[in-house]
Amino acid sequence: MKALVLGASGATGKLVVHHLINKNIQVRVVVRESAIIPSQISDNSSIEIIRGNINDFDSAKIKDLIKDCDSIFCCLGHNLSFKGILGPPHKLVYNTVVKIIEAIQSQNLKPKFILMSTTAYTNKKIGEVNTVGEKIIFSLLKVLLPPHKDNMLAADYLVYKMGSETNIDWVAVRPDSLIDEETPSEYEIYNQKIKSPIFDSGKTSRINVGHFMVELVTNDKLWDEWKLKTPVIYNKSSI
Ligand SMILES: NC(=O)c1ccc[n+]([C@@H]2O[C@H](COP(=O)([O-])OP(=O)(O)OC[C@H]3O[C@@H](n4cnc5c(N)ncnc54)[C@H](OP(=O)(O)O)[C@@H]3O)[C@@H](O)[C@H]2O)c1
Repeated sequence: MKALVLGASGATGKLVVHHLINKNIQVRVVVRESAIIPSQISDNSSIEIIRGNINDFDSAKIKDLIKDCDSIFCCLGHNLSFKGILGPPHKLVYNTVVKIIEAIQSQNLKPKFILMSTTAYTNKKIGEVNTVGEKIIFSLLKVLLPPHKDNMLAADYLVYKMGSETNIDWVAVRPDSLIDEETPSEYEIYNQKIKSPIFDSGKTSRINVGHFMVELVTNDKLWDEWKLKTPVIYNKSSI
């Protein structure tokens, strides 16, 4: 089994790599030249490290990246700096999702694709609705915060463009407010949000997100339960 992890230098991406390695799954990561990666990744000879910016990869390079992978994890996000939030690329996550899906389709492959999404995404297709207050705030965020818009476009692409009729196997995992904890704890998975991400948010440890994402690709029953869906993950202690 081989997994490709995008955003592996990020706070959640590196935990996904950690969980994959613990399951003896071969890992390929793509990290920027400037990325700082923990020694557990850089010193691990079973992890293939490709240096470069996924945003600049053309379709031939993306095809090559994914061709022998059974699973692909996208944990990309915009850095929380002035440049990261307001500077280009404004569609980092969306463009990457589209390129990956197109590469999968063009090669007739069947990897499992897992996107790290967010509870800020409201899946109207399954009946989720925003309150008036949420509508106002999400509309403002969409205009003022390019990374928010990027995350919405990426999830919409899977939910609406890929839909449920697709031969692409995807899951968009939606954590609530992310926190860092040393060890996994109990967590709950829901089909829909049970808390307001704006006015009453729950908490989700990044290590639990990584755990659930890797369980998805190693547990067929779990995959069948959540494929083509947008599961929401909360730490049990926060709901
Ligand atoms: N904050 C929350 O409460 C929350 C809740 C739910 C979901 N989310 C979403 O979850 C996702 C992951 O969150 P996280 O905290 O794990 O992310 P993170 O630590 O910020 O990691 C982001 C990753 O994306 C890469 N990246 C950033 N800008 C890039 C660019 N211009 N080109 C190529 N790669 C780039 C980073 O690489 P470098 O290491 O090279 O910078 C890093 O690997 C984000 O999309 C975020 O919006 C956040």
